[in-house]
Amino acid sequence: MAESQMPSGAHALVFGASGLAGWGVVDQLLDNYPLQGTFSKVTALINRPFSVTESYWPSPSPSRPKLKLVSGVNLAVAEQTVEEFTALFKEKVEDIATVTHAFYFGTFEGEVGCSLHG
Ligand SMILES: NC(=O)c1ccc[n+]([C@@H]2O[C@H](COP(=O)([O-])OP(=O)(O)OC[C@H]3O[C@@H](n4cnc5c(N)ncnc54)[C@H](OP(=O)(O)O)[C@@H]3O)[C@@H](O)[C@H]2O)c1
Repeated sequence: MAESQMPSGAHALVFGASGLAGWGVVDQLLDNYPLQGTFSKVTALINRPFSVTESYWPSPSPSRPKLKLVSGVNLAVAEQTVEEFTALFKEKVEDIATVTHAFYFGTFEGEVGCSLHG
């Protein structure tokens, strides 16, 4: 995509952000990938407890996207309906309606489907 066509102020939602691939994507986004200003916010979804202080991600700065870490998001809860998942995301990610990009790096078996904007 040409530089002039790059979006700005985008909001990334990263599933599996504590894992190998998800961690790296969050790290790159906080380091202003692909261009400074493309992303203004990164929401990192975490299953097990995980703290920003032990994440080794770049420190907060006005020149980086804002990071929000949301933990306790278990996507493998048996018999959870799409409606229940949607309600969980709306509760956990208060500004979910502003999400422009979703990156998925979970590893568990199962089907996940929900409407992020519904
Ligand atoms: N590694 C690579 O180079 C690479 C490259 C391309 C694609 N991929 C793909 O990316 C995916 C992740 O790979 P990875 O190497 O990053 O694996 P990983 O290091 O094992 O990370 C897996 C992630 O999934 C999360 N997760 C597991 N069970 C979950 C649940 N029930 N609810 C919510 N989150 C859950 C884990 O969080 P918790 O530990 O907190 O449960 C962790 O953050 C795989 O599908 C892989 O094929 C990987």
